[in-house]
Amino acid sequence: MAALEAARRRTTLLTDAVTDDDLVAQHSPLMSPLVWDLAHIGNQEELWLVREAGGRPGVRPDLDHVYDAFRTPRADRPALPLLGPAEARAYTDEVRARTLEVLAGTDTSPDHPERLLAGGFVFGMVAQHEAQHGETMLATHQLRQGPPVLDAPAPPPAPADADALPREVLVPGGPFTMGTSTEPWALDNELPAHQVEVPAFWLDTVPVTNGRYAEFVEAGGYQDPKWWTPEGWRHVREAGLTAPLFWSREDGPGATGEGGRWTRRRFGHVEPVPPDEPVMHVCWYEADAYARWAGRRLPTEAEWEKAARYDPATGRSRRYPWGDADPGPEHANLGQRHLRPAPAGSYPAGAAPSGARQLVGDVWEWTSSDFTPYPGFAAFPYKEYSEVFFGPDYKVLRGGAFGVDPVACRGTFRNWDYPVRRQIFAGFRTARDAVRDALGDAERGVERDASGPAGGGAA
Ligand code: AVJ
Ligand code: FE
Repeated sequence: MAALEAARRRTTLLTDAVTDDDLVAQHSPLMSPLVWDLAHIGNQEELWLVREAGGRPGVRPDLDHVYDAFRTPRADRPALPLLGPAEARAYTDEVRARTLEVLAGTDTSPDHPERLLAGGFVFGMVAQHEAQHGETMLATHQLRQGPPVLDAPAPPPAPADADALPREVLVPGGPFTMGTSTEPWALDNELPAHQVEVPAFWLDTVPVTNGRYAEFVEAGGYQDPKWWTPEGWRHVREAGLTAPLFWSREDGPGATGEGGRWTRRRFGHVEPVPPDEPVMHVCWYEADAYARWAGRRLPTEAEWEKAARYDPATGRSRRYPWGDADPGPEHANLGQRHLRPAPAGSYPAGAAPSGARQLVGDVWEWTSSDFTPYPGFAAFPYKEYSEVFFGPDYKVLRGGAFGVDPVACRGTFRNWDYPVRRQIFAGFRTARDAVRDALGDAERGVERDASGPAGGGAA
């Protein structure tokens, strides 16, 4: 299956790029050694695909406890009796060979009585799992010190019309369908589809850029408690945050200009911070503080999904902002093709009906919402994917970053993390309530919608 193969190519590239010493080293207490991710990928594939769905004997069932993410936190994984680099490679190869046997001998029709096999769900689930660890391993690469080891791919396409875009777009009020009951490979937390009432709101057309974020930094945003929640302020003081992770200030001569006083480290390269790219490596507290400083707020998760999926012309929720077609290179910056976000305003072909761009791809977007189950949620196939994380400790991120494989990306896909985390490829955009004027506008509906994609919200 193509998605499994694509995920494995990425895993191989990311693990072959470093020496064996680097594979077993822990580059940050926030991350596992890469060699743990590698064998964990094989172990999950063995567990769910070969054993559970395929009904075949395991390759190394004795390893389950070593590679059980829930049992051992990342910081403690170096102390586990891990397979070495050569053993881990041989193990994942052997599991993959069994997977191909299962695939060849399995009926994956949509009405298969076993839910894991119906529509080939377990193959999609396992491919998504490996792709998610592909992004996790990319974050480990970003945290790793030393010279670059990943080839620098072509830069993403620059937008032709970014300067002509409205600052914000209007998403009309009313009910919309959130979540899904039909996406074949949707994970448990995306289910079921349900109606949600979302009043009209304004949303940034593009994610907040480095240039705009630098204005907040330069204006003393990190020194003024009035922009921060109490927990955010405590955190910014205790952790000594002064700018996004991986940024450094260059105070030497010549280091001036908009955003040009800042450099960033990106996969071992040190470069000026590009002012027109979406900001990333900010935590939820930083995103929330910036939004307040800008006189705005983070969008809720429901607002984000409505902006990304709701089509006012039909009243339907689309699979993606651009429609129902699977993501292509013209739609979104996904799949580690570029190893950086595209400039804000890129991917006009990926725009949502509201005119908002880059909702999918480039950077994950923090929302204001806690990670909670949808009404009617049922854990499947295991509680440790979503259910154990529901509650106020985690904030939801949406949209997917340049490091996300298309197999693990949909308009309904939900990611989550602690509000202090910054190593993920996360940025944000801001929103505000639509005032009565705009509400009336939205209620007139049809006229507005007829104005076409970028028509909403030239305010
Ligand atoms: C959905 C990214 C939060 O990495 O903890 C990987 C994905 N779950 N293996 C995580 C996941 C099990 C998960 N996130
Ligand atoms: Fe995992």
